[in-house]
Amino acid sequence: MKMKYGIILGTRPEIIKLYPIIKHLENNNKEYFIIHTNQHYSENMDKIFFKELNLQPAKYNLNVGSHSHAKQTGLMLERLEEKHISENPDIVFIQGDTNTALAGALVASKLKIKIAHVEAGLRSYDNNMPEEINRIIADHISNYLFVPTKKQEQILLSEGISQDKIFVVGNTIVDTLMAIESISEQNSRILEKLSLNPKEYFLATIHRQENVDNKERFVSIFKGLSNVHEHSNKKIIYPIHPRALKMIRQHEITVPEGIELIDPVGYVDMIKLMKNCLCVLTDSGGIQEESCILRVPCVTLRDNTERPETLEVKSNILAGADPEKILQSVQYMIQSDRNWKNPFGEGDSGPKIIDMIENIWRVG
Ligand code: UD1
Ligand code: UDP
Repeated sequence: MKMKYGIILGTRPEIIKLYPIIKHLENNNKEYFIIHTNQHYSENMDKIFFKELNLQPAKYNLNVGSHSHAKQTGLMLERLEEKHISENPDIVFIQGDTNTALAGALVASKLKIKIAHVEAGLRSYDNNMPEEINRIIADHISNYLFVPTKKQEQILLSEGISQDKIFVVGNTIVDTLMAIESISEQNSRILEKLSLNPKEYFLATIHRQENVDNKERFVSIFKGLSNVHEHSNKKIIYPIHPRALKMIRQHEITVPEGIELIDPVGYVDMIKLMKNCLCVLTDSGGIQEESCILRVPCVTLRDNTERPETLEVKSNILAGADPEKILQSVQYMIQSDRNWKNPFGEGDSGPKIIDMIENIWRVG
């Protein structure tokens, strides 16, 4: 029986992390369609990734855009249901912990369509994060949970999810990185464009709701970045997420000297910036993983992480939002040996996931 796959995505990291699955479906002439909720829609948060990764545009664009959590999720539910009914896929893929992933899982669950959750089982154990709620619900209503490492398998088992739904496959980010690394090396001109020399700058990204929507915390992080600049005399390049830019304006924050805000960059430039920086300072989930895989030290500007593998291999350290701790963490990390082992797999997660599903389908 030929299966019909639905791919639900809506944000920058979902495009990047679902790319290996979409490419594998396309290269093997599988029947699939993509629904884009358009949770992200700015050119540099959306189309640039389709272009760089050579992905066909989504068959459906739901034009949901930015709203409060409830309204955004509600609009997605309504519009996704209509498309799921007309397309009637055998299975839908959701990725990660966004509102798009939550809505995609809920709609499929109500329509009794099978759900495959890519990057399942992550937990920060911080229920103040909207993502934590999304990922717990998505995990508990999914039929196939594709987890990056054994850690998430243990977490899901401890929550009562049955073993036969869980598959340890690595993280699809390794596949995507491997596909783009040499293209980035050859094609990116971002260092020249920003007049940067390798290993003479830091790279920062801060966008999490709990960091940027809270003025005191965001200002404290900026103080930490400023400390790093003052002690190193090196620039900090900050490709700024639109949410963070909006909050800088709303909170009337003055960005300290030495921190250079730039527009969000495409993946080709991002990987070049990451590979050549001294250290990454971030609250991004994906960047904690990528820096680990690329052997670039990472300081995470959060009090917890759902990527504990990076702490264990010592590619990453938690600094929270304390200015002194941020400086000390950077000083510690830039001296570290970069010989840790990548815990996220070999870069074959996309094909593995599809093969596993097709095997189950054949047998079942
Ligand atoms: C979302 C995810 C978060 C993920 C992040 C990736 C949820 C709950 N959060 O957060 O887990 O880490 O995406 O980047 O799903 N905006 C634009 N243009 C865009 C998109 C957003 O200007 O293309 C601005 C709008 O002002 C919007 C704000 O950014 O209100 C926040 O966007 P939203 O998608 O709601 O959440 P993110 O912070 O992007
Ligand atoms: N990224 C990018 N350009 C940028 C910032 C991030 O290409 O200007 C990439 C980054 O390398 C990673 C992904 O976007 O692959 C992470 O997205 P984000 O930090 O927005 O989301 P999270 O991973 O925290 O959910």
